[in-house]
This record gives sequence, C-alpha cells and structure tokens, in this order.
Amino acid sequence: SKPEALNRIKKITGKDFAFYEADLLDLAALEKIFEENKIDAVIHFAGLKAVGESVQKPVEYYHNNITGTLMLIKAMRKYGCKKIVFSSSATVYGPVNKAPYTEDMPTSATNPYGYTKVMIEQILRDVYVSDNDWSVSLLRYFNPIGAHKSGLIGEDPNGIPNNLLPYICQVAVGKLEKLGVFGDDYDTPDGTGVRDYIHVVDLAKGHLCAVKYVMENKGVEAVNLGTGKGSSVYDVLHSFEKACGKKLPYVVKPRRAGDIATCYADTAKAKKVFGWEAQYGLDEMTADSWNFIKNNFPRQGHTKKCVPAFFTHTIMRQKNPTVSDNIFSADKTKR
Ligand code: UFG
Repeated sequence: SKPEALNRIKKITGKDFAFYEADLLDLAALEKIFEENKIDAVIHFAGLKAVGESVQKPVEYYHNNITGTLMLIKAMRKYGCKKIVFSSSATVYGPVNKAPYTEDMPTSATNPYGYTKVMIEQILRDVYVSDNDWSVSLLRYFNPIGAHKSGLIGEDPNGIPNNLLPYICQVAVGKLEKLGVFGDDYDTPDGTGVRDYIHVVDLAKGHLCAVKYVMENKGVEAVNLGTGKGSSVYDVLHSFEKACGKKLPYVVKPRRAGDIATCYADTAKAKKVFGWEAQYGLDEMTADSWNFIKNNFPRQGHTKKCVPAFFTHTIMRQKNPTVSDNIFSADKTKR
C-alpha cells in the first residue's frame, strides 16, 4: 500500500477521513486508535499474503497474521467493539474439496499463509463461542482483479508479481518480457488453471454488505465473495489482450507447486445472507485493470510516480457505517 492511495480515495469520494499508520502487533498504538474514536465495527484486511514466501518464512507469517489478529481482538474487546469483518480466502477450502465451494465444506490448508486464514477463522469462531455478543463475518475472497473505474486506484505489487493479472499487466507495459503459463495439462477445458476472478469494486461492495450485516446481526457467518464463474489462464490473457489491443507473448511452463486445476465459488449464500452478487464480468475486470495501468505506467521504465495499491494494511475506521456512506458512492461510471 502507498500513502498516495489515501489522496486518491479522497478525490474519488470527495470525503475526508482519519488515517492512522499502525502495526497490529503494536497493541498500544491500536488502543490509541480506539481511545480517540468511537469505533463500531472493524474490517480486518491486514496480513501477509504471498503463498511461496509463507513457506520460506512460516514464523514471520504466523506471528504477523495470527498475533496481529489477537492484538486487534484484544483492543476491540477492551473498547467494547465486537463487530468484525475479516478478509479470509478461498484458500481455506484446501486441496480436497471440489468446486463449486460451499461455505459448509471442511476447511484445510497446504501452506502457512493458508493456515493463518484457517486459524484466524477458528479464533474468531471461538471468540464468539466465549461471548455471544460478537458478530463476525468471514469473507472468503476468490481471485480479486481489476481497478476502480476512475483509473486512480489499482494494484501495484512490489517486485515481480506472483499473481496472474499483475504479471500480465507488467508484460503489457513491457516491464516483463513474457507471461509464463503454469501448466496447460490440467483437466480443464483448455488445460490451464481455472479460477473465479472477481472485480475489486464488487469485492469492496461485498464488504459494505458485510459491515451492514454485522451491525444488524450476531453470530459468525462465512461467506464466499466470488462470481461463481471460472475463467482459465488463457481466458484472462485473451480478455486482457482485447482490452489493451495487442497480443501478449507467453510461454507454457511446468505446473506451479501447490496449484489446483479448478477453483470457483458457490455464490448462493452471499446472495441469501447479504443480498449481494457480483455485477462485473471478466472483460470489465481486465479493461479496468488496463485503464489503471496505462494511466499510471504509460510505457516501459514507467516515468509517472508510483501508484497506490487498492488494499491498505490498516484497519478502516467506521464511525457509523452504512451501505450508502461508502467510498464508492461517488462512482458515477458504473456500467
Ligand atoms: N498463473 C500463471 N502464471 C503466472 C501466475 C499465475 O499461469 O505468472 C496461473 C496459476 O497457475 C493459476 C492462475 O494463474 O492457475 C491464478 O493464479 P494466481 O497466482 O493469480 O492466484 P491463485 O489462484 O494461485 O491464488 C489466489 C491468491 C491466494 C488465494 C487464492 C484463493 O493469490 O492468496 O487465490 O483461491 F489464497
């Protein structure tokens, strides 16, 4: 995340808001935020998220993600704030369940990153068992891509991207030479991995529904945030090529360790519990990603100033959250 993202969110929404830069591991800093504000609910997005890195640095991942969450819960408890929306992941469905994934399936993981999501879900369930006043929403994200339609905020990973869409973006601007397609021999329609890509704006709106839900209900609900539709690596590549108007070079490589063939959501629960469903399709996701990239990284060796990432590693302050009072209410370009 980059501080410039804050200015751009203010520009999009026309609203000012407080911001604190604090590490969840720093309990005193967290308590100060609760002390200085009346916080009704927390959206917990903070965490390390690179699967491969988590295998190399399990202690760092467990400490940051798990201890950070425990500190947050401690601070919330102290200040009587018992409503939380947690960014979980489809990774908790593990390698054994078969798509489409439903929220009642058993959870498991194959790497430390995934285990932190499984464990944090369990910690939050246990917190509720110990005190039924809590309200917990566990949002299981599928594969978020895209950018805000303004082109002002989008994804800007540090270093060489691990994920498909940011890698394609860097090939499109000439920063990376070609895409490596990790396996074309899966049991899928075109042999490449199938995932449930979801537009970040749809994902953000899902969070607003979750905040509304925790404000009005008690208990623990796990909810998938996906579209319910699977797209292959080639589908994403070709859709992006349409958006940017040129062919992008790729080479087929061996399968990536730990990848599965197919992953997509059953979205019935999100519709039933939140009244939410994704609006945008793959072509809108790739068009919005390209719009963000071309505005911010015009050509190789991009000369414009670094751009902000979409997600912040901080807790978002919500004084009186309502669905209409949201950062996308200024989004006039919804198609
Ligand atoms: N892929 C490539 N080349 C690349 C990158 C990815 O072919 O350079 C393929 C992968 O093999 C996979 C698909 O593109 O088939 C998507 O891969 P991503 O790395 O973009 O996403 P994953 O589905 O592997 O993982 C994402 C998040 C995880 C999360 C998971 C939940 O990165 O944090 O979704 O399902 F746990």
